[in-house]
Amino acid sequence: MAKEINTIGVLTSGGDAPGMNAAIRAVVRKALVNGKQVKGIRRGYQGLLEEDIFDMTRESVSDILDKGGTILFTARCSDFRTEEGQAKGAEICKKHGIDGLVVIGGDGSFAGAQKLANLGVNTVGVPGTIDLDIACTEYTIGFDTAVNTAMEAIDKVRDTSTSHERCSIIEVMGRNAGYIALWCGIANGAEDILIPEGYDYDEQKIINNIISNRKCGKKHHIIINAEGIGHSTSMARRIEAATGVETRATILGYMQRGGNPTCRDRVYATMMGALAVDLLCEGKTNRVVGYTNGEFKDFDINEALGMNKGVSSYMTDVARDMSR
Ligand code: ADP
Ligand code: F6P
Repeated sequence: MAKEINTIGVLTSGGDAPGMNAAIRAVVRKALVNGKQVKGIRRGYQGLLEEDIFDMTRESVSDILDKGGTILFTARCSDFRTEEGQAKGAEICKKHGIDGLVVIGGDGSFAGAQKLANLGVNTVGVPGTIDLDIACTEYTIGFDTAVNTAMEAIDKVRDTSTSHERCSIIEVMGRNAGYIALWCGIANGAEDILIPEGYDYDEQKIINNIISNRKCGKKHHIIINAEGIGHSTSMARRIEAATGVETRATILGYMQRGGNPTCRDRVYATMMGALAVDLLCEGKTNRVVGYTNGEFKDFDINEALGMNKGVSSYMTDVARDMSR
């Protein structure tokens, strides 16, 4: 018989993502409805080690559903990567009566949750990252808002690029994954999309593409470059020198992580936060919540971390066909 959970802790960890607040709100309210107590932990594993822990009520999460960022703050904590740090974290959970913990974050945060689960703290991970780079799920909290933010920004760059008949390289976030770049590339009708999963580093192809598009009368040339490839400014210099077409680089940066979450991010984050609580209440541990084939599901963390995720080759093919 699994030990009954009385108190659920919640933290956000790694890069923040719009919709994390909706997930926190869902965890708190679902846990209270299920008759559990809730403790908030500020600044992820860093705050856990510093015992920055407080009681949460229904009111603690009022008026946050529509807000970007995370009211619990977030951090990257190197001490928690050590066995001593993890043992200390598990002890602190026990001291505060936290027998179930919801970790909202990315792969790295899940690896931390896995360590705590091995030390006897029941854990469930909720995928929160704008990068969409978690293999067990087709959706991660924040991606939808981030791509929409980036798409709107790129529309604006496109206007000025067309007016000046320039080439624009726009760099978007995503760490080592190209999902934001690919989605924006399709949504913004980019002429070239460079993603770590598929770029062959052959700049001559891009140069030829710009030259032939100019001959056909195209007024702009939009290149979406993923952060995982980077070097947009030096790339712009080389492309301008080779083509004679004025070329500018824009690095969108942290604006992509902020702003009010979209409807999808609010709804999916709410569903995932609630499911995480239900799993803990059923006595489950070492799980991660995901969304696949139209359903919210849970996976073993070890299996989830072992899965590989690639981009759809059909999507990259269609993206290329659209710019021909
Ligand atoms: P994300 O969760 O977005 O992938 P990080 O990779 O930065 O972000 O991880 C967030 C935090 O999770 C790290 O700062 C660290 O405290 C913890 N973490 C990451 N990897 C591990 C690991 N292998 N073991 C224990 N904790 C980890
Ligand atoms: O994981 C989200 C993300 O914004 C990535 O796209 C990016 O590589 C990274 O976080 C940046 O992290 P930091 O906030 O530590 O600069």
